[in-house]
Amino acid sequence: MAKVKTTFVCQQCGASSPAFLGRCPSCEAWSTMIETIDERRNPAIAAVRPHAERPQPLTVLGASVLKRIPVPIVELDRVLGGGLVPGTLVLIGGDPGIGKSTLVLQAAAALANDRGPVLYVSAEESAQQIRLRADRLGIISDQVLVMSSTDLDAIVATASSLAPALLIVDSIQTVSVDDISSAAGSVSQVRECTSRLMQWGKSRDIPVFIIGHVTKEGAIAGPRVLEHMVDAVLYLEGERHGHFRVLRAVKNRFGSTDEVGVFEMAESGLREVRNPSEAFLAERHGHATGSSVAVTVEGTRPILVEVQALTSQSAFGLPRRSANGFDAGRLQLLVAVLQKRVGLALAGQDIYANVVGGMRIGEPAADLAVALAIASSFRDRPVDTDLVAVGEIGLSGELRSVSQIDRRLGEASRLGFSKAVIPASAARRGTVDIAGLSVQRADTVGEAIEISITDS
Ligand SMILES: Nc1ncnc2c1ncn2[C@@H]1O[C@H](COP(=O)(O)OP(=O)(O)OP(=O)(O)O)[C@@H](O)[C@H]1O
Ligand SMILES: [Mg+2]
Repeated sequence: MAKVKTTFVCQQCGASSPAFLGRCPSCEAWSTMIETIDERRNPAIAAVRPHAERPQPLTVLGASVLKRIPVPIVELDRVLGGGLVPGTLVLIGGDPGIGKSTLVLQAAAALANDRGPVLYVSAEESAQQIRLRADRLGIISDQVLVMSSTDLDAIVATASSLAPALLIVDSIQTVSVDDISSAAGSVSQVRECTSRLMQWGKSRDIPVFIIGHVTKEGAIAGPRVLEHMVDAVLYLEGERHGHFRVLRAVKNRFGSTDEVGVFEMAESGLREVRNPSEAFLAERHGHATGSSVAVTVEGTRPILVEVQALTSQSAFGLPRRSANGFDAGRLQLLVAVLQKRVGLALAGQDIYANVVGGMRIGEPAADLAVALAIASSFRDRPVDTDLVAVGEIGLSGELRSVSQIDRRLGEASRLGFSKAVIPASAARRGTVDIAGLSVQRADTVGEAIEISITDS
């Protein structure tokens, strides 16, 4: 087969060169020349051009209801938006060793049972290693077909002849095409491989999962460009040594990006956690100082999590502030509000705050719980153990209302909490009474602290 012509194109100004250059001759930027397949000279693509599709009115396009393939792992199914859309390309990212291969192998086995063969291509582990993992996970299925290859064209050829229910490529950074001279894992390789897999999946209506590694900075190794190309991006998060894993959609062309799936990593693989609130609160010690309970909403699901804080006299001139599970900048802001608006003398204190269980909270509704935990540790008085706290804190120390307050309180009541402190403004918008829950309203964070932190 004739080799496809490639050129090096500057990602900044678009200048091109037939050979690799470290610096763009036009805009003089460094390391912006990326190897790209020259489509005009690619006979395969050129041949397609004359038969380009004619535009059609929206109303005569195919069915308006998507057929979805249900995935038997409920937590994964939910994050995908209620099943897999045929032909969709899903990128699964996550830190090294977090459990990506485990998750996709379990998904492969579950889907193979229902839908027939699934092709699992591992470019970084041998078939033997996958067999060992499958044994540990208790997967015995002759419908999960394993192939160890790094050659993308060979993978696509095999997949075409098998027509599996799902194709999995673990990982996109280790496969390559011959047409591009740069090494596997380079921007041009990763982009070309992804684009070929996408075309393959879409033309046959077969869903494809690709796994991508995440660098220390949080970007999918080198090419963030992948995130734009694929239909859905799911991240598996969690503390590597903790046992909870949260699967989160950061992009989904076929569903909401708010949903999360919660799993527990066990010897036998990832176990679904159907009741995350109970799981996250399981190790909570009543009457400990510096602990409070927040109610966060992920998609349609309210989840209760314990927030812990520790304040201690700083030994150095510049006190330490460390946040785990939520934004560090938000912690600084809450500390400043507690100092200035509530009068807590936190200036000389080291402050550590932590969301228990490896959950990451992105929404400000947890502000009040964090503030209560800090105030509780600082005053050395426990927060009422039967109480949940919901509310965003403004810069003047005022409590601001948050969305879906009824749903949050409903979950707290279901888990046996008897008290809740919420923003006064939220109550005025017609909060219904929640059975068994005494709801106290506060205008400011100072008031909420007086309500929640007992003196005995
Ligand atoms: N024998 C074992 N017993 C219990 N848990 C194990 C065992 N072997 C592996 N694990 C768990 O599985 C995790 C690794 O899972 P997996 O290989 O799926 O991760 P990964 O995200 O694919 O990693 P990589 O980035 O290396 O591809 C380990 O961090 C560990 O928690
Ligand atoms: Mg892996």
